[in-house]
Amino acid sequence: MSQIHAVILAAGHGKRMKSALPKALHTLAGRAMLDYVVDAARKAGAGTVHVVHGHQGEQLRGAFSGQNISWVTQTEQLGTGHAASQAMSKIPDDDHVLVLYGDVPLVNSMTLARALESAVAGDVGLITVALDDPTGYGRIVRDTHGWVSGIVEHIDASEAERSIREVNTGIIAAPAARLRRWLAGLENDNSQGEYYLTDIIALAVADDCRVHTTQPDAVEEVMGVNDRVQLARLERWFQRREAERLMREGVSIADPARFDVRGEVRVGHDIEIDVNAVLEGEVELADGVRIGPNVCIKNAVLGAGTTVLANSVIEDAQIGADCRIGPFARIRPGAHLNDNVHVGNFVEIKNTSVGLRSKVNHLSYVGDSDVGQDVNVGAGTITCNYDGANKHRTIIEDGAFIGSGVELVAPVTVHAGATIGAGSTVSKDAPAGELTVARVRQSTVAGWKRPKKR
Ligand code: UD1
Ligand code: CA
Repeated sequence: MSQIHAVILAAGHGKRMKSALPKALHTLAGRAMLDYVVDAARKAGAGTVHVVHGHQGEQLRGAFSGQNISWVTQTEQLGTGHAASQAMSKIPDDDHVLVLYGDVPLVNSMTLARALESAVAGDVGLITVALDDPTGYGRIVRDTHGWVSGIVEHIDASEAERSIREVNTGIIAAPAARLRRWLAGLENDNSQGEYYLTDIIALAVADDCRVHTTQPDAVEEVMGVNDRVQLARLERWFQRREAERLMREGVSIADPARFDVRGEVRVGHDIEIDVNAVLEGEVELADGVRIGPNVCIKNAVLGAGTTVLANSVIEDAQIGADCRIGPFARIRPGAHLNDNVHVGNFVEIKNTSVGLRSKVNHLSYVGDSDVGQDVNVGAGTITCNYDGANKHRTIIEDGAFIGSGVELVAPVTVHAGATIGAGSTVSKDAPAGELTVARVRQSTVAGWKRPKKR
């Protein structure tokens, strides 16, 4: 069985990014551009992915250390044809090659699969697109029958050729043996003194090989990123598409231009999302979830009917149904809120489970704790979970009532139905059903006078 090899070119300097980071590692929706390209190649059927890199190889390899990628070094950037040929020694004659680019992140695997079909049939597949302003791109030259006869780079094109609107995206699929031969035949007698990959088209035609063109559904799929302005444009297009997908699934988004997804979002129906929400990693929102303005949610599940009010941050947490979070709440990793839980303003919850109907409404820190159901944690309550060396757990059993301004010095247990008086520092277990108070008794100094200014 012949195999498909993707050859991803990423050796260019990317100078216009003005960055120490290799261009292909700049992110779009939170993921490196190169990551999208590798993914699309694999989805289109590539069994092996080769990445051609220049002097920034170390950084690229480091970023993709968990992935099975064949790394190819191009020591001198002598052109796209030269870059592609660097990978050819690793590709057997009977296989097929798909050339992609580390800075063209949004290629669609279906479009790539169409180009590959031509290659598998022994011809060349080329992805082209018609642009209103084709300036800078290689133009597709066709013969009188409409067949592609060659590609001419903008800089080398005649006035007549420059009026052609159909341009080369650079994405090419071809049978390996033929591609190897054509690449070996490239010359650099052009205005940039480079070995152009695009010149293989004319060589293929001279070899009696057909060049089949195919177009992407959207031009953004084949747009390259040269600077941060172009990257931001693609980011907005990508986000708009994500927002529209979610809206079609039953989510109301107050302003799709102020909504960002950096990962995968699964949604139910009748969800409302206000402006400036950022959803990262894996996020699941059940039916009827409402998200207020300026909310960040990362790797979290929110149950049906839950409301997250303005300016709240939720990360690595599970939240049940009909909860009310925020405004200004911070739900940190390991938080596990059952149904009908209320977490109010300036409350931080970390590595803690909170039972049904329990409330922590104001200015509290609850960490490393197990809070039962129907518990009320008063304003300004702090679990002192860290002794400077180790973390300890606080257990608050069902129905406990913690007054305001309480410090719970872990390890400590507040048993079921216990009440803790406001302002207490609790360092020993509080018995069930009783009132425990641990604070200095109030006294009044009779007749005391305030000092006066002399
Ligand atoms: C290339 C095409 C042009 C097409 C355009 C689409 C050629 C000669 N021209 O032009 O027809 O319209 O893409 O965007 O192919 N690279 C290397 N090694 C090199 C040179 C380039 O890895 O020696 C990589 C770069 O990192 C970049 C890609 O190849 O990702 C394209 O190179 P670039 O010089 O930008 O080609 P364009 O001039 O844009
Ligand atoms: Ca260029």
